[in-house]
Amino acid sequence: MAQTLLQVEDLHTQFFTSRGVVRAVDGVSLHIDVGETLGVVGESGCGKTITALSILRLVPDPGKIVSGRILFRGNDVVKMDDDEIRDFRGNDVAMIFQDPMTSLNPVTRIGSQIEEAMTAHKRFTPEQAKSRVIELLTRVRVPSAETRAKDYPHQFSGGMRQRAMIAMGLANEPSLLIADEPTTALDVTVQAQIIQLMKQLNRELGTAMMLITHNMALVASLCQRVVVMYAGRVVEEGPVEQIFKSPQHPYTWSLLRSVPRVDEARKDRLVSIKGLPPDLSNPPPGCKFHPRCPFVIDRCRVEEPPLGEVGPDQVARCWVLMRNVSEGDVATAKQSSISVAAAENLKAPVADIGTKSGS
Ligand SMILES: Nc1ncnc2c1ncn2[C@@H]1O[C@H](COP(=O)(O)OP(=O)(O)O)[C@@H](O)[C@H]1O
Ligand code: SF4
Ligand SMILES: [Mg+2]
Repeated sequence: MAQTLLQVEDLHTQFFTSRGVVRAVDGVSLHIDVGETLGVVGESGCGKTITALSILRLVPDPGKIVSGRILFRGNDVVKMDDDEIRDFRGNDVAMIFQDPMTSLNPVTRIGSQIEEAMTAHKRFTPEQAKSRVIELLTRVRVPSAETRAKDYPHQFSGGMRQRAMIAMGLANEPSLLIADEPTTALDVTVQAQIIQLMKQLNRELGTAMMLITHNMALVASLCQRVVVMYAGRVVEEGPVEQIFKSPQHPYTWSLLRSVPRVDEARKDRLVSIKGLPPDLSNPPPGCKFHPRCPFVIDRCRVEEPPLGEVGPDQVARCWVLMRNVSEGDVATAKQSSISVAAAENLKAPVADIGTKSGS
């Protein structure tokens, strides 16, 4: 049986703001096995980053882990003292962010920064660290690594900076790499290269990965299992293949429908999910997705569904489930979401006409 590396149990992380309590992470449970790649998906604001920052105990003020357990190889991160947490961050887990410039020091050479990451945690001697820098940069496919190690971050392109960040993340051979939207800021070709690289590293080094993204296509190409989040909660979880073939939560179904498909070249086929995600300081009663759900029933408005088993290793939080929705209702839902996108595309020419007639 697979060995569990990280086990998050009923995690609650909240922000105590003047506007009230924001329940950013509201009872999240998830796990990652040794060497596994887990995708965490959901729209912006659903609690993905705060879940990751909670795992590292780096939740910014006025945020706090209120309850729950974060077991890493059985040790609870929530209870670690300062020394233990420093050790954990330096040696066991590394996080890479969407914008590498926020984590790279602009006035220190790339090579020195990676070296510092290693010597700071005393995992390697200064001599070992020096030689490992070139090895690491080569591994993440930075060409002419020896020369480029002497560059400053601004001399690197966006894609190269992300590679340097990954090299820094891998410097202390962590068993878990958390990547938060690591390719969002990059263009499509570079995105593909970084994904390829992460795939290879996972295979070669056995580093487990938690990939945070709002992009289902990315999950499909990189992950074994996926957790779908909505309004600070897990709403569906399961093996990627299974979830893509048979999503049971209407939100997952909607997310999958908004993945651009190669065979749908026309822009007006791109669907977006109707409505906005809820305000986490004042979420709706019942199922948090009910104001946007095309398959809502009365019960959804008053009672929140629990996460229930819906298939082999697959769980979903829904009273209805996609398998119980009639083909007619699915067709109607598809039609209404497509017409939303089509109507939005119509806005541009209409506005153009307006400008012209006004001039
Ligand atoms: N510094 C903050 N102060 C108050 N609320 C915050 C702060 N950071 C995040 N939040 C709240 O936490 C929720 C989850 O944020 P986040 O985890 O960053 O979302 P995402 O899924 O886009 O990564 C947001 O919707 C927001 O309401
Ligand atoms: S519980 Fe109801 S509102 Fe929520 S996703 Fe399921 S059908 Fe939609
Ligand atoms: Mg985020």
